[in-house]
Amino acid sequence: MSMSNKTIKGFSKLNKKRKIEWIAENFHEDPDSIIELLASFWHPDESQQKILDGFSENTISNFAMPYCIAPNFIINKKAYTIPMVIEESSVVAAASAAAKFWMKRGGFRATVINTLKVGQIHLTCDQDENEIRKFFEENKHKFKSSCKELLKNMESRGGGIKNIGLVIFKEENEYFQIRMAFETCDSMGANFINSVLECYAKEFIDTHIKVYGEKSRLQIIMCILSNYTPECLVRSEVCCPIEELGEVADLTALQFAYKFKKAVRIAEIDPYRATTHNKGIYNGIDAVVLATGNDFRAIEACGHTYACRDGHYRSLSHCTIEEGIFKFWLEIPMALGTVGGLTNLHPLARISLEILENPSSRELMMITASVGLAQNFAALKSLISTGIQKGHMKMHLSNVLHQLKATEQEFMLAMDHFRDKIISHKAVRDFLNKLRIDPSKGSVD
Ligand code: MEV
Repeated sequence: MSMSNKTIKGFSKLNKKRKIEWIAENFHEDPDSIIELLASFWHPDESQQKILDGFSENTISNFAMPYCIAPNFIINKKAYTIPMVIEESSVVAAASAAAKFWMKRGGFRATVINTLKVGQIHLTCDQDENEIRKFFEENKHKFKSSCKELLKNMESRGGGIKNIGLVIFKEENEYFQIRMAFETCDSMGANFINSVLECYAKEFIDTHIKVYGEKSRLQIIMCILSNYTPECLVRSEVCCPIEELGEVADLTALQFAYKFKKAVRIAEIDPYRATTHNKGIYNGIDAVVLATGNDFRAIEACGHTYACRDGHYRSLSHCTIEEGIFKFWLEIPMALGTVGGLTNLHPLARISLEILENPSSRELMMITASVGLAQNFAALKSLISTGIQKGHMKMHLSNVLHQLKATEQEFMLAMDHFRDKIISHKAVRDFLNKLRIDPSKGSVD
C-alpha cells in the first residue's frame, strides 16, 4: 500500500464508525475482526461511552488497563484501601506487601509541607531592567484587580494568587517573566491558573501601551502554568528500631538495614541507578494518580525536575540509621486535585476517590506519596535480598500461561514445574505442548 493511501484529510470530521472503518481498511488484513475487537471494548452503556469519548479527540475505542486494589495502608494512623491503575505485574503485589509490612510497625507518617502552584507570564521588552521593574511594582495590584471575577470563587475557598514577582534572566536579553504562586485548594487548578495568567497579561500589556504609547514594545510570548511545583511538597516516612525489621530472606535485621541504606545511598549519588530507583517510586505514584483521574505526566515531570534541583539527578527517597532507628522517607512535589477535571468526570476516578473516602487534595498528596514510598521499599527489599526476578517471574509465568490459554490444571502443574527453573515464553510453551501431548509429563521433568 502506498504512503498516500495512509494519509487522510478531515479524519476528525468522520463519525466513529467511519473512523474505525478507515483504520480497519488501511491497517489490518482482516478489517472485520479489528472492527469487532475495537467495538468489543466500547462501554455497553452509550451515555458512559459518550463521557469517555469526550475526554479526547478521534476516540475509536477504550484502552483497558487493570484497575487494582492495594489494601492495608496505614497512613497517619488511618487505614486506607488504595486503588491503582497499572499494567506492570507485581507492582500492586509489592505495594500491598510493603503496606502490610509497615502496618505492623506503625504505618506511614505523612505531612504536607506546602501546597503552592506556579504560573508564568513570559514577555519580551526592550526597556531596561529598572524601568520594567518600576512599571511592574507600580501596577501589579491593578493587574491583579483586573482578574477579580476569575479570582472571586477561589478566594472564597481560601485560594487565589499568593505571590507575584518579576524574574530577570541574565542569560537572555529583553526577556522578563512574571511568576505567580497560586493556592488552588482541592482542585489541580490548571484551567484556573491559565485563565488568571491570560487575564493578568492582557491588563499588563494594555497598561503598558497606555503608559508608553508608541514606545511600548512589549510582547507577551506566552502564559502558562509551570508543572514544576517545588512548593507543593509532601513528605512520607516510615521508621522503626532495626530489630523490628526482622529477618529478610537470609539477612539479619541489622544486615538488611545497612544493605538497604547503602542501596538508597547509591541512588543518591549515581543518576543511572537514581533513574531506576525513582521509576520504581513512580510505579506506585502514577498508578494512584491515574486511578484518581489526575495528570501523571505533570506529576512525573515535576518529580524528576525536583530530583535534580541541585544540578545532579538523585534519589527522591532517603534513608538513615541513627541510634538503632531505621528511617526511610520520601519528599516529593505533587500537585494533585480531588475536584474538577477528570477526577469527577471519569466514573472510575470517582469510585477511586470514594474508596479513599473522599480525601482532600492534601490528604491525597499524603496517600500517594506513601504509596510511592511503599513501592520503593518493596523494590529495594527484593533487590537486596532475593533479587527482583523471583517475584517478577512468577507474575510473568502467570501472564504467559493466560496468554497460552492454560487450563486450571495446566496452570497448577506449570507453577509447580517452574518453581526452580528459568522462565521464558518458549520454555512455558514447550512445557504446555509436552503436557498437551502427554499429560503424564506434567508431573516429571
Ligand atoms: C521496575 O518497574 C522497578 C524497579 O526496577 C525499581 C528499582 O529498581 O528500584 C524494580
